[in-house]
Amino acid sequence: MRVAAFTSYDSPSDIEVQTHADPTPERGEAVVAVHAASLNHRDLWKLKDERRTDRQELPFVPGSDLAGIVERTGEGVTGVEEGDRVVLCPLRTCGTCRFCREGPENVCSHYDIYDGAFAERVTVDADRLVVLPDSVGFAAAAALPVAYMTAYRMLARGNATVDDRVFVPGATGGVGLAAVQLANLIGAETIGTSSSGEKLARVERAGLTHAVQTGAPEEMHAAVEAIGEVDVTINHLGGPFTRVGVDVLRRGGRMVVCGRTAGRYPDFDARDLYLGHKRIIGSTLGTQTDLERLVAYVADGRLRPVVGKQYQLAGTREAFDDMADRQLVGKLVVRPHE
Ligand SMILES: NC(=O)c1ccc[n+]([C@@H]2O[C@H](COP(=O)([O-])OP(=O)(O)OC[C@H]3O[C@@H](n4cnc5c(N)ncnc54)[C@H](OP(=O)(O)O)[C@@H]3O)[C@@H](O)[C@H]2O)c1
Ligand SMILES: [Zn+2]
Repeated sequence: MRVAAFTSYDSPSDIEVQTHADPTPERGEAVVAVHAASLNHRDLWKLKDERRTDRQELPFVPGSDLAGIVERTGEGVTGVEEGDRVVLCPLRTCGTCRFCREGPENVCSHYDIYDGAFAERVTVDADRLVVLPDSVGFAAAAALPVAYMTAYRMLARGNATVDDRVFVPGATGGVGLAAVQLANLIGAETIGTSSSGEKLARVERAGLTHAVQTGAPEEMHAAVEAIGEVDVTINHLGGPFTRVGVDVLRRGGRMVVCGRTAGRYPDFDARDLYLGHKRIIGSTLGTQTDLERLVAYVADGRLRPVVGKQYQLAGTREAFDDMADRQLVGKLVVRPHE
C-alpha cells in the first residue's frame, strides 16, 4: 500500500509517497481503508519545528484525522465490523490515570494523538472508531476530529452561550473556522480575523458576523474594540495575539488557548487580567463523545465542515506547502484512494 511519509525533518519538500507493507490488525485493532485524511498545523510542526514535537523514527507517516471503511478487524473487536464507514477519534489515553477515571478523557496525564493517516490503509484501535451515518461524507468526516473537537471543547471551556460575543483571531484555518461555525451554532455573535480579504469572505459565507481584515495586532485590537466588548476569545495564535485576546475581553471575560502559531511566549499586562477579573484557560483536543456529537450535527445538517481543497496522496506535499504558505480556508483533505 502507498503512504505519504516524511523522509527527513528539514522542510516540506521531504514528503515522499512510498510503498509499505499492508497492515494486519492485532487484538482490538481494525484496518481501515482511508478515503479521506485531513491536515492539521500539528503535522506541520512535526515537520518544521523540532522544539515543538519529538523527532520520530524515519520514514514517519503523519496525519491524525482520517475517515474510511473498515476492511478487517482483529480478535476481540465488537464495536465495528467489515464494511462500516468510520471516522477515527485520534485521542489516545491510558485509561487508568485519575483524569481518565474522572473525565473528561482528553485531560489524561498520558494523553497522545494518533499519527499515520496519510496512507491507503491504517491500523487503529477499533474502540476509537465512530461509525458514520451514510449522509456524512468522508471528506467532511475527516475534517472533524482535531480542529472541530478542539474548537468545540474550547467554546465549552469558555462557557460560551447564545448571549456571547466570541472573538476568533485567525478565523480562516482549521480550529479558527470551526470555532466560528460552532459559536454560530449556539447562536453567539462572532468576530473573526484574517490577513486576507478573500479568505475572510469565505468565512463570512460560513456565518461569521463581523469580519476584521488585518494581521497586525494593534489594528486588530482597535477594530475589535470598535465592534464591542468580547465575552470569549478563542485563541490558537498566541504570540502578540495573546495580548489582543485579553485586552478586548469585557470584565469577567474568558480567553481559551489551544495553540501558539504566532509565537511561543506571549506578552500582556497582568494588571488588565486581575483588575478585569478575566480568565485565561488552556484546552487541548476534546473527547470521543464530542466527536460523536459533531458527526450527529453534520448528519442532521446543522454543521457543514469547510473543506478548502482536496488532494491525491501524491499531493500531500503540496497540502503541507499550502498550509505553510497560509493558502487555505478551512481544512485541507487528502484522498488516498483517488
Ligand atoms: N491543543 C490542541 O489540542 C490543538 C488542536 C488543534 C490545533 N492546535 C494548534 O492551534 C493552531 C492552529 O491549528 P490549525 O490546524 O487550525 O492551523 P491552520 O489551519 O494552519 O490555521 C490557519 C490560521 O492561522 C492564521 N495564522 C497562521 N500563521 C499565522 C501567523 N504567523 N500570524 C498570524 N496568524 C497566523 C491564519 O491566518 P490568515 O488567514 O491571516 O492566513 C489562519 O487563520 C496550531 O498552533 C495548532 O498547533 C492545538
Ligand atoms: Zn489517562
